[in-house]
Amino acid sequence: MRRLAPVFVALAMTCGGAAAQNTVSVGVDTAHPGAKIDRHIFGQFAEHLGTQIYDGIWVGKTSKIPNTRGIRKDVVAALKDLHVPVVRWPGGCYADQYHWRDGIGKKRVARVNAAWGNAPEPNTFGTDEFMDFAQQIGAEAYVSLNIGSGTVKEAADWVEYMTAPTTATLGKERAANGHPAPYAVNYVGLGNESWDCGGLMTPDEYLQQMKLYARFVNNYNTAVPTQKVAVGPGTDDTAWTDAVMDTWKKRHGWSFDLNGLSLHSYTWGAWPPSHPSTGFGEDEYAFLLKDTLHMEPLVAKQSAAMDKFDPEKKISLTVDEWGAWLAPTPGSNPAFLQQQNSQRDAILAALNLNIFFRHADRIRMTNIAQMVNVLQAMILTDGPKMVLTPTYHLFKMYGPFQDATFLPVSFDAGTYKFGDITLPKVDAVAAKTKDGKIVVALTNIDAKEAVSFEVALPGVSAGSAKGEVLSAPRLDSVNTFAAPNTVKPKAVTATVANGKLSVTLAPASVTVLTLN
Ligand code: AHR
Repeated sequence: MRRLAPVFVALAMTCGGAAAQNTVSVGVDTAHPGAKIDRHIFGQFAEHLGTQIYDGIWVGKTSKIPNTRGIRKDVVAALKDLHVPVVRWPGGCYADQYHWRDGIGKKRVARVNAAWGNAPEPNTFGTDEFMDFAQQIGAEAYVSLNIGSGTVKEAADWVEYMTAPTTATLGKERAANGHPAPYAVNYVGLGNESWDCGGLMTPDEYLQQMKLYARFVNNYNTAVPTQKVAVGPGTDDTAWTDAVMDTWKKRHGWSFDLNGLSLHSYTWGAWPPSHPSTGFGEDEYAFLLKDTLHMEPLVAKQSAAMDKFDPEKKISLTVDEWGAWLAPTPGSNPAFLQQQNSQRDAILAALNLNIFFRHADRIRMTNIAQMVNVLQAMILTDGPKMVLTPTYHLFKMYGPFQDATFLPVSFDAGTYKFGDITLPKVDAVAAKTKDGKIVVALTNIDAKEAVSFEVALPGVSAGSAKGEVLSAPRLDSVNTFAAPNTVKPKAVTATVANGKLSVTLAPASVTVLTLN
């Protein structure tokens, strides 16, 4: 792994002063709308890992921490406000060792979480609790099936338990556990990283399993179809993609179908993740943002590989794990993947979302890793305390893009340089929202210089735009329990004159504006 000089650079990120004012002209093509930006692109991931489920989401019905049926009220309220469209559970690597019967009914089977540090797994948060959590936050359910250490029958029974009518024995068992109405299982994952923690399988070995799970795991809730997501690649090598897509294409008759192919890609620089989540300078900032921009050629290459078999783009490229994977918080259990979350990470999230929007014809769901207390989390908790991260705020600001229609933009991104690292200076995306308004998201990647944007909106006669800006005192600014509002969006308005919206962005900041 390339090591960077441990230079610590504190940056003043306010506009004006001696900073040069660059101007970027952005043209929004309102006449040629692109694909729908599926709201599922804003999906999240909650694995049984570290303090995510136990403490972060589930505190138990007798906890002093305010809860609804054992699920934290503060976390639910924050996530509900975010309009999380879908949540993936129970893993990750953990999914391939999860046995659903351990987590239903009155008697739970306590186990060891061998995927993540041999932590105690009480199984007090199981299927019914997950469905309750998803319903409380208003999200759809994406359940990862155990292909590694489970069987086709176990997975088929699990989905039958969740979806069958009460005339079936498993539906009756669900009713006896307090849930007579079948659940909606919107997505199932047919394994997880089967090329690595999911069993180190070759494509052929995986396909032998996957075909059976895809064929024999059935949803019985006719009101809500279940989409099936196969394990896909974790690099830009397309051999795995080709093998799965070829098998899908050659299927016939009553065999099986797929709706998604997963892609996992983290921003970590190199394995093992060692870049600090706090106390870093511009070198780390530039390095990790450059690393994150690899998402663009990666999804372009994998999507093109899928095109060979599926030119109509019936199968979604489902990026169901992405985000910054950094060095563990000093003093924490390294197997718990705890890290802080800074202004840099919010920008990293914006750049990834922008890439997903540009590929919205193929990418119809993604799941940031992860939701609470793990990796690039939305929320951090410690006992009764809770804090929202910069990534949470960025996701909330991007809310108008959910189910909006992509609008092409043109601009000269210019360059921002740090040492031998060259990055685009800015990024910009635009869309038409569900209610017909134009929304733009503008990112100033440059760590030192403010940038003025002039956004040309032909045919748009609006007089003003409203939105929020996410900026911070420093690149590595974070929110803590003691100082929860260090990185927080601020309201911003901009005027539109002669079809042009003008706004100036502080260094390392993101602004989202909706036209009135
Ligand atoms: O998100 C953490 C882990 O990263 C997941 O469990 C696994 O799928 C991936 O390797």
